[in-house]
Amino acid sequence: MRKISLLMIALAALGIPNARSQKQLTVKVNQTKADIQPTMWGVFFEDINLGADGGIYAEMVKNRSFEFFRPLMGWDVKRKTEGDVLVVNRKEVNTANPRYLRVTANNAAKGDVVLVNEGFRGMGIKKDLRYDFSIMYHQQQPAVRLTVELIDANGKSIGGTTITPQESGDAWHKAIASFNATATELKGKLKITIEGNGVIDLDMISLFPGDTWKNRPGGMRADMVQLLADMKPGFIRFPGGCIVEGFDLSQRYQWKKTLGPIEERQLLINRWNFEFAHRPTPDYFQTFGLGFFEYFQLAEDIGAEPLPILNCGMACQFNSAEVATLDELDPYVQDALDLIEFANGDASTKWGKVRADMGHSTPFNLKMMGVGNENWGPQYVERLKIFTKAIKSKYPDFKLVNSSGTDPNGERFDYLNNELRKMNADIIDEHYYRKPEWFFENARRYDNYPRNGSKIFGGEYAAQSDKTVSVDNKNCWLTALSEAAFMTGLERNADVVNMASYAPLFAHADGWQWTPDLIWVNNLKSYGTPDYYVQQLFSLNKGNKVVPITLNNDVVAGQDSLFAAAAIDTKTNELIIKLVNASNRSQETSLSLDGVKKLASQGTLTVLQNDDLMAVNSFTEPTKVSPKQSTVKLSGKKINLSAAPYSFSVLRVKI
Ligand code: AHR
Repeated sequence: MRKISLLMIALAALGIPNARSQKQLTVKVNQTKADIQPTMWGVFFEDINLGADGGIYAEMVKNRSFEFFRPLMGWDVKRKTEGDVLVVNRKEVNTANPRYLRVTANNAAKGDVVLVNEGFRGMGIKKDLRYDFSIMYHQQQPAVRLTVELIDANGKSIGGTTITPQESGDAWHKAIASFNATATELKGKLKITIEGNGVIDLDMISLFPGDTWKNRPGGMRADMVQLLADMKPGFIRFPGGCIVEGFDLSQRYQWKKTLGPIEERQLLINRWNFEFAHRPTPDYFQTFGLGFFEYFQLAEDIGAEPLPILNCGMACQFNSAEVATLDELDPYVQDALDLIEFANGDASTKWGKVRADMGHSTPFNLKMMGVGNENWGPQYVERLKIFTKAIKSKYPDFKLVNSSGTDPNGERFDYLNNELRKMNADIIDEHYYRKPEWFFENARRYDNYPRNGSKIFGGEYAAQSDKTVSVDNKNCWLTALSEAAFMTGLERNADVVNMASYAPLFAHADGWQWTPDLIWVNNLKSYGTPDYYVQQLFSLNKGNKVVPITLNNDVVAGQDSLFAAAAIDTKTNELIIKLVNASNRSQETSLSLDGVKKLASQGTLTVLQNDDLMAVNSFTEPTKVSPKQSTVKLSGKKINLSAAPYSFSVLRVKI
């Protein structure tokens, strides 16, 4: 906290000399400096902080197929007699989904045999909403009745139904039933009571809310997807992050195992389950209900280019640092080639057919892919070269994203940056988890980057109010403001920086491992942080041509705590000015527009502002720091813009 106060004093001091005099900014409206790529501002999705299971993937039952290391984790089981409820393992015949429950109801009356699932830190239940229950079962003859109920935190029933499974024989069958909830509850549970006299095998016990995104059965949480859609992201990077690499190679993300019927998708431990001793999450697994098909579909739904990241034959170097030997790299490379076929091939190709059979006959139009996440060292370079050769010789125009490691500077970064540029890498992924000061100070980072050759992807960044991996990091207005200042530098250098995304994206308030995060959720609600609104404002006000904006012939990158970028949207004929005032006083600016023929008599001003740099959004005040829009009157060809203390302003005006 003391360090932040010092920063505030320093920022204020930066503003003192001329804070009261009007700053004369010049915008050269007719001088295009760079094209802004449609992909410029995107999102990075990783299953961390219960981002997928327990988060955007709307399944409410935890451990639905009993595949967690502890098969009954998440379940509370009441038996009439020993052996009434058994975990059975058929791993020899079903490697993807070996376990199921065998329930023997021995003249069981109501209350004798009961299964209760606790959900992901409870189940969020909404009054009057429909809930879709399903179960896979296997029985020799119909003999039992299941009562399915939602219960509140006190155990009271708040909606339910009964099912009497009818099918019998050797095959597995699915039973479904829907019912409405009678009350709202944040910490609900699912209770299944089994009555009758007979044996039934149960698996894939599932419950979804009726209000999933696009009402897809077994789909995603609509409020969370909506927050992404509202950003109009240019791309979505998935599925990680470190989960791509895995603790060791056996735990790496393998996209082929995430396709097809959900009961055939093999569960994998989530690397964030045990990564941080101070934030253990022993119930964190990947069921892959959100798998690669769904990621591509999500990208399509929200109009974002898909950017899958693949394992490059190396496990996480912070963990086991296992590598596949070069002569065993083929399956990894083949995964990359097959993924392009899965996304783009027609139904006559092996993997194109898999996609078509899953319900998407048209291609997903995949144009780029990341090889490796935060991998580094000569081992990465030698593997990357093998991938690059194989992919480029089959798909010469396909773009590859390469890792520059974990940090934006230092020996690791310098080595990779040098090697990747020698290889003429298409896109270099840089990560910056740094303090707000770094973001303010690095607004000029790309002003002197090479203009030719490799492009930059700021693939993961977030200002850390305390320090990286500290549990005290907050998504406060200071972190967001510093990111806004830095992002003006990214936009100014859009000829070099083609893509950028904040990280991580989601965090569950009761199940997070990492903070800060862009969007926070519980089982009923979600809200965007101040950082979210910064990302959203940049994305919604992207424009497609950078034009120069200067103060005393210099870019506006920290003088008197001001940061600015200017762009034109040639489709709407608008000039878009972004102005960050990081000082504690308002600053008057006058913008001279060079080369403008006509200026509209009014513009739209959107301001994100708070006097308190520590201000945060929350479930109770979700929009405390959020944009406010107004109309500003303009006359002549000059614009007078008053930048409030600690503010980020976006002005759009027709030219
Ligand atoms: O975003 C959290 C983690 O930070 C990502 O998994 C990894 O790429 C980085 O170290």
